[in-house]
Amino acid sequence: MKHLITTSDFSNDEILKLFNDAKLFLDLSSNKLLEGKLIVTLFFENSTRTRSSFEIAAKRLGADVVNLEVQTSSTKKGETVEDTVANLNAMKPDAIIIRHSECGLPNSLKSYVNCPILNAGDGKNAHPTQALLDLFTIMEHFNYDVKDKNIAIVGDIFNSRVASSNLELLPRFGLKPILVTPKEFRVVSQYKTVKNINKVIDKLDVIMSLRVQHERHTFTLSDDELEENTKKYSKKYCITKKMMGSRDILLMHPGPVNRNIDISDEMLEDPRSKVLEQVRNGVAVRMACLKKLILNQ
Ligand code: CP
Repeated sequence: MKHLITTSDFSNDEILKLFNDAKLFLDLSSNKLLEGKLIVTLFFENSTRTRSSFEIAAKRLGADVVNLEVQTSSTKKGETVEDTVANLNAMKPDAIIIRHSECGLPNSLKSYVNCPILNAGDGKNAHPTQALLDLFTIMEHFNYDVKDKNIAIVGDIFNSRVASSNLELLPRFGLKPILVTPKEFRVVSQYKTVKNINKVIDKLDVIMSLRVQHERHTFTLSDDELEENTKKYSKKYCITKKMMGSRDILLMHPGPVNRNIDISDEMLEDPRSKVLEQVRNGVAVRMACLKKLILNQ
C-alpha cells in the first residue's frame, strides 16, 4: 500500500503516468472508477481549494466522501489525532485525506491505518498534491519540454509548504528554481536567492507567487506595523503589469491570493495568469492520485 505524504513518494515515471491519467480527467466529467469506495477528509486547518478539489475529484470518480467536521468532532473533547484516525480507520475507508498544522503528522499516522493517507498539507512541511498540480500546469503549458526553464518562487519561502514541495519536485524534471524573497523569509538553499525580482526577471519562464503566511509567523505585529510591513512588502514583491512588462512569463499562485499584495488585480486578469487553470488542473491531478493510490494502478 502506498501513501502520498511528500512528492518523493512518487518516482518520476509514476508522476508522468499520473499526468497521463490527469490529462484524461481534464474535462472533469464523471466516471465510476471508484464506485463503492469511501474517502474520509480531515481538515484541521482552513482550506477552500484543496478540500473542495479532493471532494470533487472523489465524487467525479464515483466515490462517496465523508468530511469530518473537526470543529464538532471529539478532538474537541481531548481525543488525540492518532486516536481519531485509528477510529476512522476502523470504519474501513479506502483513503484518508488529512491537513494539519503539525509538520510530519501525516507521516506518523501511517502506522494507524490500513488505507492510503494523502497529505493535504502539514504545516510548512509539504503539500504534495499542490506541487504535482503546479508541475502538471507547467508541463501542459510547455508541451512537456521544461528542462532548464527558470522558475522564480516569490515571497514567504520559509513558511511555505508549497515552496518546499515544489523545490523537491520541480528540479527532478529539470526546472531551475530561483528564490526571490526578503531576508525575513529566506531559507538555506542550494538555489540562487535574490531580494529583487528585477535582477532575474529577464531570464524567467515562470513566476510562482506565494502568500505571506502570517498564521505561521512566530513574531507578532501591531495592526499599524502589519499595515506598514505589508505596504513595504507589496511594493517589492507584488507581481504587477509594470514588473512583467510584455515578457512571456507564466504566472502562478497556489491560492489563496492576497490581491494587490501577492499579485495585482490587473495581472490576475492577464492571460499569462494561470491561477484558475491551476485550480482546474488540481481536480484532474487529484483524481489521478486517488485512482493510483486506491486502485493501485
Ligand atoms: N492551495 C491551497 O492549499 O489552497 P487552500 O488552502 O484553499 O486549500
